[in-house]
Amino acid sequence: MIDVLLGLQWGDEGKGKIVDYLADKYDIIARFQGGPNAGHTLYVNGEKVVLHTIPSGVFHNHCLNLIGNGVVIDPVTLQAEMKKIVPLCPDLLSRLYVSQKAHLILPTHRALDAASEAAKGKDKIGSTLKGIGPAYMDKTGRNGLRVGDILSKNFREKYDKLTQKHKDMLKQYDNVVEWQQWEPAFFEAIEELKKLQIVNGEYWLDTHMKAGKTVLAEGAQGSMLDVDFGTYPFVTSSNTISAGVCNGLGVAPQRIGEVFGITKAYCTRVGGGPFPTELHDETGEALRKAGSEFGATTGRPRRCGWIDLVALRYAVMLSGVTKLIMTKTDVLDNFTPIKAAVAYIADGKETEEFPYDVTDDVSLEPVYKEFAGWGAPLTGVTEYDALPQDFKDYCKFVEQFLGTKIAYISNGTGRNQLIVI
Ligand code: GDP
Ligand code: IMO
Ligand code: MG
Repeated sequence: MIDVLLGLQWGDEGKGKIVDYLADKYDIIARFQGGPNAGHTLYVNGEKVVLHTIPSGVFHNHCLNLIGNGVVIDPVTLQAEMKKIVPLCPDLLSRLYVSQKAHLILPTHRALDAASEAAKGKDKIGSTLKGIGPAYMDKTGRNGLRVGDILSKNFREKYDKLTQKHKDMLKQYDNVVEWQQWEPAFFEAIEELKKLQIVNGEYWLDTHMKAGKTVLAEGAQGSMLDVDFGTYPFVTSSNTISAGVCNGLGVAPQRIGEVFGITKAYCTRVGGGPFPTELHDETGEALRKAGSEFGATTGRPRRCGWIDLVALRYAVMLSGVTKLIMTKTDVLDNFTPIKAAVAYIADGKETEEFPYDVTDDVSLEPVYKEFAGWGAPLTGVTEYDALPQDFKDYCKFVEQFLGTKIAYISNGTGRNQLIVI
């Protein structure tokens, strides 16, 4: 069986921390989509580590880690990440596996990402500029280069052919970055990538699962950034919901077991695009401060607002979430009141469905339910029964609205700052 863990909001729900905690119970952790746009934070012996492409199970000696076929890999970023964590994880090379079918991000993909974003002006997506969109475009456009290609004799020829196409595309833009300066590092990193354990990921997983090994699929981004179901076009370029696990790893749907869905006790978004419960006032500012809401990959300030139960119920439905995990509960300690969106007024009509159009073209007002707040520190509490009643009431309401039980409550950044229910 393969369990799944994914974000239910717009990313940064605390996936890295939770995977790091749950990894104790699994033999294999596998990333199935996204790439270096992700920034998953965890603490190893008190030291902060941010992972981008490497699965968050690497700090457990018994865990094997797979970068699946659905991931897009920038060899340069991967190399830099490996260098950083090897001192904390000396046997990394023996426990890290890469699917031969994962696609490569080239220097020209990064240049195209930057040029395309700049050309969009005020309508820009707010991409992390890691080359994600252009790399997935080449994948679906059937032009992409895959990890397996780096072992072929004519890799350079294939590279030149694809970059020629990109050079022609870049001609339509002004102020294109000097991507040629990135090429030497790219080819050096390709040589390092060749030293990794490149496997046929789907067969590799099948063999391990048949041998009784347990697998956790680690999602990146969040459900509302899904390319099909998110706030399109302000989304990423992959399927971030549980369906993405099947084609991002090559496992059949009936093999999926638990689906852990993570939500913050409030909500954040980084980059452009709709965010119905965003707070543009001092409460939003206070949330950013209390939650240290700055991007793990880009350092940008994250937009903050109240939990959006309309969007969350949609995300729970899309992924078939069986267990909820609520993180950053401690951040709300001193807020009163605390609000949760339970419906929207869209163009004058009340709805509990996430609308097709949530852009500025329609008027959309969240309908809120208010909670008193608990006004007591949650950090340090280790048992559900010891939690303040007002907080428990908040959790109960969320569970009832979403029709799913909360299995874990996170109340701090550390691996074990987690209440198991
Ligand atoms: P990810 O992308 O989903 O892995 O999340 P990020 O790492 O981008 O952002 C989550 C941030 O919240 C990180 O800085 C975590 O250390 C932090 N964090 C995770 N869980 C908690 C929690 O329960 N309380 C607090 N205060 N911080 C948390
Ligand atoms: P983790 O895994 C939060 C956002 C970007 C931008 C949009 C498209 O850490 O939760 P892209 O670079 O994919 O073309 O950007 O998606 N985005 C994220 N936001 N967390 C992430 O990952 C994100 N990855 C991409 O800010 O709005
Ligand atoms: Mg993140």
